[in-house]
Amino acid sequence: MNNLLGDNEAAQQNLFTPDFGQPPHSYVGRDDMLRDVRSGLGAGPRDPRFTSVLLGPRGSGKTVTLNMIEDVAYKAGWLVLPLDASTSNIAERLEERIEWARDENETLTAAPRGGTDTTTTGVRVLGAEWQRQVVRSIEAKWGIRRQLTTLAEHAAANGSAVLLTVDELHSGGIEELRRLSSDLQHITKREQRPLAFVGAGLAEMKHTLLEDKKMTFFQRCQSFDMPPLTRADAMKCLSKTVRDAGGEFDGHALSDLAEATGALPFRMQLLGYYAWTVADAPHSPVSETAADQAINETDRDMHQRVFSPTWHTLNEHEQAILRALSESGGHASPQQIAGRIGGRISASSISRADNRLLNVGCITHEPDGSIRFGPVMAHESVVWFAERERQYAGTADKPATRQRCGKHMPRANARCILRAGHAGRCRSSW
Ligand SMILES: Nc1ncnc2c1ncn2[C@@H]1O[C@H](COP(=O)(O)OP(=O)(O)OP(=O)(O)O)[C@@H](O)[C@H]1O
Ligand SMILES: [Mg+2]
Repeated sequence: MNNLLGDNEAAQQNLFTPDFGQPPHSYVGRDDMLRDVRSGLGAGPRDPRFTSVLLGPRGSGKTVTLNMIEDVAYKAGWLVLPLDASTSNIAERLEERIEWARDENETLTAAPRGGTDTTTTGVRVLGAEWQRQVVRSIEAKWGIRRQLTTLAEHAAANGSAVLLTVDELHSGGIEELRRLSSDLQHITKREQRPLAFVGAGLAEMKHTLLEDKKMTFFQRCQSFDMPPLTRADAMKCLSKTVRDAGGEFDGHALSDLAEATGALPFRMQLLGYYAWTVADAPHSPVSETAADQAINETDRDMHQRVFSPTWHTLNEHEQAILRALSESGGHASPQQIAGRIGGRISASSISRADNRLLNVGCITHEPDGSIRFGPVMAHESVVWFAERERQYAGTADKPATRQRCGKHMPRANARCILRAGHAGRCRSSW
């Protein structure tokens, strides 16, 4: 794409990546987890982390982290088979992957992918050699278990390993995943062959895949919750991305953006992207006004790209809890929530819904047991969804409540509570 732009323009390209699965310019906040997974892979099949599952809400960086793990394994000379479970026929695609590895290896000379440094150690070169031999000997008519076993056997004989990764595990078909689980259980756990596994998916899997009695393999994987970003992580990523391009921040702009980031890398990338665009970085410094505007644009995008799709995956009980939480101003005790819902839903159903909302990332539990909105849902969005539903329900006797202004006020870390289109300055409280 760069060759469509002049040198000057190419250098000014926005370095933020407000999308899914895009490698960020600066990868932050995952060092401990990455180190842990890497040590587990290096330790071999007896280590529980040799088979791991990354769990986290939408936009928490699972795919990017999975790709980094694949890269580390690839550069160490492992055979890497990356898959995702969002479309069916996993077994067929796994076979295609192995075939692809065969084609790729035929064209390799001494070094696998990853640049010239990979030719400097014997192990890495040996990695390419055994891969070339073994993928050639695999026969397409063999079943997946035999193909994977053969690959793992050769890897073991050469002091290497195979890494299978499956992204979007939560959306996989149950029968297909049961079959895969049984094959992996046999090869890696029972026979202790060096076939490592790293899966990734939404944390709601804790109640589906990871509880399924016919998928003991996944239950025995080590699970890692994607850690929420800290303010320091956000400061580091935002500042490095802008400063590496020669840009800078004015006044409180950087800390306002870091404050508004919250837990999700995706949200941080949106904030950085809009701040850069609004300020025309790196030509001009990112001002406090640009940061303010970026926060508002980001909220709008989060509503469309994260909160809205998430809302539509929730069942009525889950939506009722979020409505009750929003009617309580975004912070409530379980008793207050139950009081607002009335006797319409049983206590056990509320508790089940609460648990799912927690895993999806729509709510968080405070240490005192109270509930707040989590990283993948916002008070303003729930007000908006409820308002839309009221309009569709056509309750003429209940006049629609007027929309709030909702503009973010970074200094107060709150939103304007005045009506949309109000005159004068915003206010965060009466
Ligand atoms: N550790 C990180 N540091 C900086 N940016 C990150 C980090 N992890 C992810 N990102 C950015 O956030 C975006 C979202 O990440 P990613 O697509 O990996 O999320 P995900 O958890 O896989 O989401 P989904 O559940 O929708 O698939 C990426 O495009 C990437 O640019
Ligand atoms: Mg993903």
